[in-house]
Amino acid sequence: MQILLMGPPGAGKGTQAEFLTDAYKIPHISTGDMFRKAQADGTALGLEAKRYMEAGDLVPDEVTIGIVRERLAEADCKKGFLLDGFPRTVAQAEALKGILSDLNMQLDAALNIDVAEEELIKRLTGRRICKTCGATYHTVFNPPQKADVCDKDGGPLYQRKDDTVETAKNRLSVYTGQTQPLIDYYQKEGVLVAINGQQDVSAVTADIKKALEVCR
Ligand code: AP5
Ligand code: ZN
Repeated sequence: MQILLMGPPGAGKGTQAEFLTDAYKIPHISTGDMFRKAQADGTALGLEAKRYMEAGDLVPDEVTIGIVRERLAEADCKKGFLLDGFPRTVAQAEALKGILSDLNMQLDAALNIDVAEEELIKRLTGRRICKTCGATYHTVFNPPQKADVCDKDGGPLYQRKDDTVETAKNRLSVYTGQTQPLIDYYQKEGVLVAINGQQDVSAVTADIKKALEVCR
C-alpha cells in the first residue's frame, strides 16, 4: 500500500499512523518526525528546520523534497509506505508525483482527516508525548494513568515547543493557505478519501480501515 495521510495540524495523523503502519507493515514516513530527529541529533538539517518549526512555518520545499526523495528510495519502501505530513504544498505534491514515477510506484489513497479548527487548537495544546517511546497522549482526550508519565514504559511526557496556542494558530493558518489546496489536487488525481476525524480514535480507525479495503 502506498498511502498519504493528510489533514490539518492535530487532526490525528500521527495517532492513526500507528495503526496503519502496524496493519499494513509499511514504514511510517513523517517529515515532522524526521526534522525533530535531525534537531535532536544536532545535524545541519535539524538546525535549518528548527527556526521554521518553532515559528509554525513550513520548512522550504527544496529541503523537504530532498529528504523525502532519499527516504523513498530506501529498500523498505519497496513494499509500500505511509507518508504523514508530506506533501504540504502543491510544489511538494508535484515533486512527489515525479519521485513516484521514477520509482515506478503510484498512490493507492490520499486520506484526508477532517477536523474543525476549534477542536484542533484543543488537541494541539493538550498533547503530551513520551520522551522514551514517542507515544502520544492528551491531557483530556487520552490522559495517561499517572499525570505526565507514559503508561507503556514510565517515560516522562513533554509538550512540543510548537504546541503553544500562538504557534498552533499560525500552523493552522499556514495549513489553510498552503496545504488545504491539496485536497482539490488529490481529488482531481482520483485518490482522495475523506475521513471524518471528529470522532473517537477507534471510530476514525474503523473508517480508515473500511476506506482502504475499497482501495486495495
Ligand atoms: P508535523 O510534525 O507534521 O505536525 P503537524 O502536521 O502539525 O501535525 P501534528 O503532529 O501536530 O498532528 P497530528 O495530525 O499528527 O495529530 P496527533 O495524532 O498527534 O509538522 C511539524 C512542523 O514540521 C511543521 O509545522 C513544519 O514546520 C515542519 N514540517 C513537517 N512536514 C513538513 C513539510 N512537508 N513541509 C514543510 N515543513 C514541514 O493528535 C493530536 C492530539 O490529539 C494528540 O494529543 C492526540 O492524543 C489527540 N487525538 C488524536 N486523535 C483524536 C481523536 N479522534 N479524538 C480526540 N483526541 C484525539
Ligand atoms: Zn513511552
